Amino acid sequence: MNNKNIFTRVRFGLLALALTSSVAYAVAPPVDDQGKAEKKKDKETPEHIAAMKAKVFSKESVSVAIGEKRFNQTCVYCHGYEGSGGKARKLQGRDFDADYLFKTITKGKKRGSLVMPPWKRTFTPEQRWELVTYILSLSEEK
Ligand code: HEC
Repeated sequence: MNNKNIFTRVRFGLLALALTSSVAYAVAPPVDDQGKAEKKKDKETPEHIAAMKAKVFSKESVSVAIGEKRFNQTCVYCHGYEGSGGKARKLQGRDFDADYLFKTITKGKKRGSLVMPPWKRTFTPEQRWELVTYILSLSEEK
């Protein structure tokens, strides 16, 4: 092995090191993203909530499908398949107001000893509106 070869290898090694560390930096930035997201959620202004509502309702069929998936992951345990009821009241065949649904999902609700936690910290306003469109769809004539 000659000198030139070693130089090239060392240079390549350094380059590779620089590349991997920048990739690692991109994958796991050393800032507290969780904390930032938390702060963002606390800035739920009425304007932001209204804008998200408009956005979610403007592509309603997509939103209903996303909402359904989330409902089946998180809410079905108490509210039953397609909101057919169970531990909590059924959500089908009701005459819900969209804003009432949004508020209730945000703040939670209880009946007797059964408590629905507030979902404000779990879901963004956009995600809560998607749940609203799905719940409203359960009361539509099929
Ligand atoms: C731990 C059980 C539980 C889970 C999980 C749960 N809920 Fe509830 N939910 C309740 C209870 C209890 C009530 C109050 C029932 C009542 O008023 O009869 C309620 C009420 C509601 C209401 C108001 C219904 C009404 O008649 O006014 C909505 C809307 C609702 N839940 C949506 C959701 C959504 C969306 C999710 C998932 C993100 C969810 N819930 C998850 C227990 C739960």
